[in-house]
Order: sequence, then structure tokens, then C-alpha cells
Amino acid sequence: MTLNGRRILLGVTGGIAAYKTPELVRRLREAGADVRVVMSAGAEAFITPLTLQAVSGHRVRTHLLDAEAEAGMGHIELARWADQVLIAPATAQVIARLAHGFADDLLSTLVLATEAGVWIAPAMNRVMWDARAVRENCRVLEARGMHVLGPGVGDQACGEQGAGRMLEPDEIVGQLRGREPVLAGLRFVVTAGPTHEPIDPVRFLGNRSSGRMGFAVAEALAEAGARVDLVAGPVRLATPPGVERFDVATAEEMLSAVSARIDHADGFVGVAAVADYRPASLAGDKIKKSGQPLTLQLVENPDILATVARRRPKPFVVGFAAETRDLESAARGKLKAKGADLIAANRVGQNRGFDTEDNTLEVFGADCHWSLGNRSKRDLARELVAIIAERMQPKEHRNQQ
Ligand code: PMT
Repeated sequence: MTLNGRRILLGVTGGIAAYKTPELVRRLREAGADVRVVMSAGAEAFITPLTLQAVSGHRVRTHLLDAEAEAGMGHIELARWADQVLIAPATAQVIARLAHGFADDLLSTLVLATEAGVWIAPAMNRVMWDARAVRENCRVLEARGMHVLGPGVGDQACGEQGAGRMLEPDEIVGQLRGREPVLAGLRFVVTAGPTHEPIDPVRFLGNRSSGRMGFAVAEALAEAGARVDLVAGPVRLATPPGVERFDVATAEEMLSAVSARIDHADGFVGVAAVADYRPASLAGDKIKKSGQPLTLQLVENPDILATVARRRPKPFVVGFAAETRDLESAARGKLKAKGADLIAANRVGQNRGFDTEDNTLEVFGADCHWSLGNRSKRDLARELVAIIAERMQPKEHRNQQ
């Protein structure tokens, strides 16, 4: 989508990231957009209207009940003028106000009065971003067709690290043009779902993985511009747009499907809940009751993640860890033992992790850690992909390892 000639109404609210908005206005104007700015009272504590007036070339509006300003372009005209409304930074406060349809200040009134698309770039402390109220408010806004940009993951003004940082002006401009293809030109192989290890013609050893998390990761990678091969265990899910899917049943089939596609891959994400063991032999006929205990002998399955991580050149390898206890030490153990670059760990149990819509992830690298609190698997996948994009080294460097 070109921004040339676009009329963008920028709403600035009261967060420290407001200091980046003059740069944002400059970038939007460089892209050809005509930008008018509305500021909340809180935003004025961080940046002056004069600065934004200077960079936008238009008077900045700050109050709903401003007789002088209304004599020029009134708030309804301003709402009609906009092709696109962008709120950056969007605080937890403005997100809550929009979710509840408030109309007691200029910005919230404009959002109610406009027919233009609304895009919000949240900026807040990571714990606030994880707060259930904020997540639910964002979901309400998305369900109404608004677009949530980011937030980014990384160092925060409060000294913490995590998700909640406003996207950089360049990233916002890129996303307004269309989702930023940060992984364009890269190829990924993703595994998803359970494996089924047959015991006899009608029974198998399996687990409760629905495939949702792996499919969400494949979708988020494709959204980020990557070419994605998805190797899926037995699940009932539609293939995400832009993703090529290969269905398998057992761990051995999954390994051979991955091996057939990994040669030219830049990254591998192992989300599948692969059975560690399979029956040593497959009964040719249905096993009958005998009145005696039945012993099944199991043999270990190949470890797909570790096999991929041993390859040279090595793709960027992301594993998952499903744990019922000692999450961090178990995840760090798997990171090292399997040779992964990142491990996304989740607690699993009754109604937790497996076969749920939402989840919580702790992502560990050798020298880094991100906490992604409870949210939809789709949102988690997008944030995980942002972390992957940030951590992936240039291809040439990886090939030397
Ligand atoms: O599918 P959903 O219902 O959405 O649920 C998501 C999930 C709970 C399955 C997912 O979030 C998750 O935790 N996936 C990993 C499950 C798992 O098998 O974890 P693990 O800790 O046993 O294995 C660690 C890593 O090694 C995983 O990346 C796994 O894919 C990989 N592995 C394990 C065994 C094996 N033989 N080969 C492997 O590649």
C-alpha cells in the first residue's frame, strides 16, 4: 500500500515513546503522506505541540472543546478528512478508552467519528502489556477491525526487557504499507501437532497436541515474508495462507519429511509434540484381551530437533519445551543438549499448553530471556517470530559456524 498522498491522522498519547513521534511524522511525510496530529493531555507531558506542528506543517489539535480550532477544520471534518488513523504511542489507557467507546476527548471522539481504518502502536511496560485487561481490550479492538502494530520486543524505558516497546518509526511506516516482510527471502521448516506411534492396526501412542501453536508459528513466519514448509502430525486444522503443508503420522515420518526439506532452510522451528518412544514392533492384527497384563516394549524415537541442530551449515534452530515442573532449568537443559538457538518453554497439564486457544511462553537463548504472558497462540507466534527475526544472524555468519 503506498502512503503517497495518504491523509494520516496521528494520535499521540502519553507514553515515553511519544518522543519518537517527530521522527515518525518525518518518515510518514517522506513516504508522501499528509499528516495531521492530535495529542492527548498526557502526550503534552512528554512532547510539545509546537514540535509536532513544526514537523507536520499543520497546527496540532489538543482539545475537543476548542472554539478557535473548530472554526477551522472541526473534529467531524478532521475525522472525515483522514484516510487512516494511527495512534502511536497507544497507552493502556487509550486502548481501554477505545475498547469502551469513550468520547470525552478529541482523540477518542475522532476514532468514533471516522470511517477510516484505525491502527494502534501500543507502548507500555511488559507487565502492563501482559495484563489480562489490556489483552482483552486489544482483542476487542481487533475484532472491530482495528490493527495492532507490534509491540516490539526488547529493552524498555523502565529498564526491563520484554514485549511492549513501541515499534520504531521505520517499522510502523513499513507496517502501514503492508505487514513488514522482516524474513523475506528466508526459508523455514516448522513442525506441528502430535505424532501417532502405531501399536496395532487400530491403536496408537499419541498426545493431546492440537497443532494450533505450530500452525500459528507457520502463519506468523509466512506473514513476515518467509517461505514456510509445515510438517504436520495428525491434526484437524486448515493450512495457513502462504504455507506449504506435508502431513505425517509418526516421528520417523516427521524426521524424513523434515530432512527432505531442511537442506536450503535458514530456520527450523520444532513445535511438534514428538513422541519420545514408539512401540518396538507393530502388531499385524488387533491385539486381543488375554486376561493377563500386557507389556509393550518401547524404543526411543530419533530427536528431530537435535538432528537438525547438528547440521552444518546450521539453520537457526528454535525448539519448544513442554514442562510440568522446573520450567527454566529444563528449558535451558534442552537448549544446550539439543543445540538449539532458542527454546520456547511452556507449562503443560490439565487445560494448559496442549489443545488450548491461549498460552504463556518463556523464551530462552544462551544469553537472553523473554516472558510472553498469557495471550492467543497467534499473538504469541507473532512475538516469537519478532524475536527470531531479531536474533537471526546474517546467513553468511551462520554458515561459518
Ligand atoms: O499443539 P497445541 O495444542 O497448540 O499445543 C502446543 C504445544 C504444547 C504442543 C507446544 O507449545 C509445545 O510445547 N511443543 C513441544 C512439545 C514437546 O514435545 O516438548 P518436549 O519438551 O518433549 O520436546 C522439546 C523439543 O524437542 C520440541 O521442540 C520437540 O518438537 C523436539 N523433539 C522432541 C522429541 C523428539 N523425538 N524429537 C523432537 O524434535
